[in-house]
Amino acid sequence: MLLRVLLFHSLLRYPSLRSKPVNKTSVSYCYCNNLSASTFMASSVVDCSTLVLCGKSLAEIEAAKAIKSSNTLKLPDNEELSIVLQSELDGENVMRRSFNVDSFMNSLCTDTFGRLLVWSPRLASTHDVVSHNFCELPIGSVCLADVQTKGRGRSKNVWESPLGCLLFSFTLQMEDGRIVPLVQYVVSLAITEAVKDICNKNGLPSVDVKIKWPNDLYLNGLKVGGILCTSTYKLKKFNVSAGIGLNVNNEKPTTCLNTKLRELSVEAYRFQREDVLATFFNKFETFYRLFIDQGFQSLEELYYKTWLHSGQRVIVQEKNDDNVVEHVVTIQGLTSSGYLLAVGDDSQLCELHPDGNSFDFFKGLVRRKLE
Ligand SMILES: *[C@@H]1O[C@H](CO)[C@@H](O)[C@H](O)[C@H]1NC(C)=O
Ligand SMILES: *[C@@H]1O[C@H](CO)[C@@H](O)[C@H](O)[C@H]1NC(C)=O
Ligand SMILES: *[C@@H]1O[C@H](CO)[C@@H](O)[C@H](O)[C@H]1NC(C)=O
Repeated sequence: MLLRVLLFHSLLRYPSLRSKPVNKTSVSYCYCNNLSASTFMASSVVDCSTLVLCGKSLAEIEAAKAIKSSNTLKLPDNEELSIVLQSELDGENVMRRSFNVDSFMNSLCTDTFGRLLVWSPRLASTHDVVSHNFCELPIGSVCLADVQTKGRGRSKNVWESPLGCLLFSFTLQMEDGRIVPLVQYVVSLAITEAVKDICNKNGLPSVDVKIKWPNDLYLNGLKVGGILCTSTYKLKKFNVSAGIGLNVNNEKPTTCLNTKLRELSVEAYRFQREDVLATFFNKFETFYRLFIDQGFQSLEELYYKTWLHSGQRVIVQEKNDDNVVEHVVTIQGLTSSGYLLAVGDDSQLCELHPDGNSFDFFKGLVRRKLE
C-alpha cells in the first residue's frame, strides 16, 4: 500500500496546467481580425479587455442590457474594459474558434446557473471578473474566456491557459458557513460527472476524469484541470466565486479530453467546450440542490468513487519537542469540515490539514487527533 503513495508522489513531477507564455500579438490579432463590431476590434488591438454579454432568455438579455447601460462592471487595477452585447456582434464574422454562445445556450437547461454569460476572447482572469462584480451580476452568472493570461490557482499561483481550455468562473451565494468549504467538492464532482454524461449520451467509452483532493482534475495520471473557490462574507451571506479550468482540446501542456478520445480510437466525436459547460451547469444545479437540502452526504459516495484517495496511505510528520515523528495513516474520506479523514495503524482517527507551506497538499500534512 505504501508503494501507492510513492507512485502517487512521482506523478506530481509532471508539469501542471501551466503552459508557455502566450504570444500576445498573435492571439489578439487572430481574434480581432475576425470580429467586426468596431468596439471589439478597437479594444482588442489596444489590448483592453472586451466583455460580451448574453442571456438565455428575455429576462437575462434584459439584465445584460441593463448592466451594459449602467456601465458598472469593473476590472482589477482599473484596467480598461469595453462591453458589448452579443446581439451587437456580427455573428458571421465571429471566429470559429471563439465560444459558440448559441450552442451553449441551447444545451443549457437550468433555472439559475449559467443563464447570464459574459465571455471574452481574452481575459487576465475570469475569476477576477466575477469576484470583482459579484453584486452587479445576477447570482449564477458565468464568465468565460477563450484565453486567460493570469488565471488564478491555489495559493496565488498564476497559470497561463492556451486556446482549447474551458475556462470559466461563476457565482453563488450561501448562508450556512459550515458547508461553504465543501462546495468546491460539489463543483469538482459536477465537472467530472458532466464529462461522463456526455460520454454516455454519445455512446462513447468512458473518459474517467478523477479528482485529486482538494481541487485538481486528473486524466491518465496527468493534470487536466483544476478548481478554485473563494468566498467573502458579510451580513450572514457568503459570496462564493467558483472557477474551473479544464483542458478540453489542447494537448499542451499535459493532456486533454480529446486526446483521450483519440487514444480510445473514437473518431467521430470530439468534446466541445460549449457542451461541457452546459452539461456542467445542468449537473451542478442538481447536485447543488441536493447539497443544500440534504448535505454533502448525499453526494459522498459518488465523490469517493471519483477521487484518487480511498485507502491511500500517507505519511504525516509531527513535531514532538525537537523530534519529528512520522506516522503512516490511511485516508478514509472527508471530515464534515472538508478535510481528510484518516485512520492510523493504531486505529486512531485523525483529520489531516495541509500545513499551508507546501504546494503539494500531500507533502506537509498536519494531523489533528479526533475523538
Ligand atoms: C509573436 O508572433 C509574431 C507574429 O507572428 C512574431 O513576429 C513574433 O516573433 C512572436 N514573438 C514571440 C516571442 O514568439
Ligand atoms: C478571419 O478574417 C480573415 C480576414 O479578415 C479571413 O481571411 C479569414 O477567413 C477569417 N477566418 C474565419 C475563421 O472566419
Ligand atoms: C455579497 O453580495 C451581495 C449582493 O448579492 C452584496 O450585497 C454583499 O455586499 C456582498 N458581500 C460581500 C462580503 O461582498
